[in-house]
Amino acid sequence: MRHITHIRDLGVDGVSRVLDRALGWKTTAPGAIFSGRILGMLFFNPSLRTRASFEAAMLRQGGHAIVIDVNSGSWKLETADGAVMDGDRPEHIREAIPVLGGYVDALAVRCFADGNPAVDVQDQLMHSIRAHSLVPVVSMESAREHPCQGLADMLTIREHCGELAGRKVTLSWAPHIKPLPQAVPNSFLLSAAAAGCEITVAHPPGLELQDEVLSEAQQLAQESGARISFRNDQQAACADAEVLYAKSWGGATDLDFAELARQHSGWQVTRSLLEAGNVRSKLMHCLPVRRNVVLSDDALDSELSLVAPQAHNRLHVQRSLLHEVFNGGN
Ligand code: CP
Repeated sequence: MRHITHIRDLGVDGVSRVLDRALGWKTTAPGAIFSGRILGMLFFNPSLRTRASFEAAMLRQGGHAIVIDVNSGSWKLETADGAVMDGDRPEHIREAIPVLGGYVDALAVRCFADGNPAVDVQDQLMHSIRAHSLVPVVSMESAREHPCQGLADMLTIREHCGELAGRKVTLSWAPHIKPLPQAVPNSFLLSAAAAGCEITVAHPPGLELQDEVLSEAQQLAQESGARISFRNDQQAACADAEVLYAKSWGGATDLDFAELARQHSGWQVTRSLLEAGNVRSKLMHCLPVRRNVVLSDDALDSELSLVAPQAHNRLHVQRSLLHEVFNGGN
């Protein structure tokens, strides 16, 4: 049984294998490879793209998906070990997760961060779910990572810019109305590091990603040949970027995020930023996105924006990843 909930579960070779297969199957559809397979999908948090693309991947290849929205139409689930369950959560994941494993061939789970990056990076709930599951677990985004998003991001860059090795990509923080989890920036960094890109991470001081993730990215980079650098100057970080990946994220719990976002509202990604510097940068964002807060209309609506094909690629990488899961990792 092989869980795929973090980029390290795939490693450099696995990332390459999933992307190669996803790309090949965009040309030659694989047929009913999931015939007789059932994917259980457990959502602790909402989703549009992840839910629709996983379901579509199962259905299009002859399989089936069972979708369960925790807290809406199913029992509320307790997740804390040792909890005295006298509140509004009548079932524990210690029963629910193995029970579901008796019905399905794999379990896909979405369980967001709580908002403290230093704790979220440990990904405790996802690790508990892995430990209690009788079937392979796939992440649909957890507190630490959103690996399927990172893989779709790499597939999109490969299609629209060319081979990933040495590709100049910038991950730029952007303003938001509230501090968001670091799962998406973490996954972009880890995936790009596994793919061998030349990565610049740009953010205002105080919004550093967690050390555990940065050191894991450096380890992947050593293996793949990727290079990673950091800037606090968005303009400089974007000057040579073939791809500008815009994303908001929050920092430590004692950070006054609202004040920081106000101070750095100029980090909103605009068309003029994409066109500044030596290279016209292509724009990526995982979606959903708040227009004219994170990205300006003129950036999002421009021909430089890849957000739609990027979202469509969610289906293609998940189809490839699910094949890996159902076949024990090959
Ligand atoms: N990018 C992404 O995961 O979108 P959803 O939250 O809509 O699934």
